Amino acid sequence: MRVLVLNGVNLDVLGRRDPTQYGGLSLSELESRIYEWARGLDLSVQCRQSNDEGEFIHWIHDAYDTVDGLVINPAAWTHYAWSIHDALEPLRVPIVEVHLSNVDEREEWRHVSVIADLVATRFAGHGPDGYRLALEYLKEHAT
Ligand code: DQA
Repeated sequence: MRVLVLNGVNLDVLGRRDPTQYGGLSLSELESRIYEWARGLDLSVQCRQSNDEGEFIHWIHDAYDTVDGLVINPAAWTHYAWSIHDALEPLRVPIVEVHLSNVDEREEWRHVSVIADLVATRFAGHGPDGYRLALEYLKEHAT
């Protein structure tokens, strides 16, 4: 099973961002964990991160015919980027939304997710383990 893990804007500077919200791992440390979990679950995973919304959207387009599941943390784009909503809409594989922090208990603007109607499920506030939960979910719900 092929799974794409997409991390959005500013997640490349994990480790420098508020550790009380995002923990202390760098992006490469987080991705190493994701690859390790993927191996344990026998999933073929590719992790990508971008600060460029256009590039992020191209990766979603490329995923239409190449993956069996998507894990996505659009970061701040979650809250306003309808272009990402529209890019995800034609994807015919399960999408799992992940947030390191518990967005529902933070500022009100973080309570909105423009992709909420498209995702199979969401894990928020579990820190890095949210990605493990997302991979386990996809494994369990593989068609
Ligand atoms: C985030 C939460 C977003 O509100 C924030 O803009 C991020 C990261 C998270 O993983 O907790 O950059 O998606």
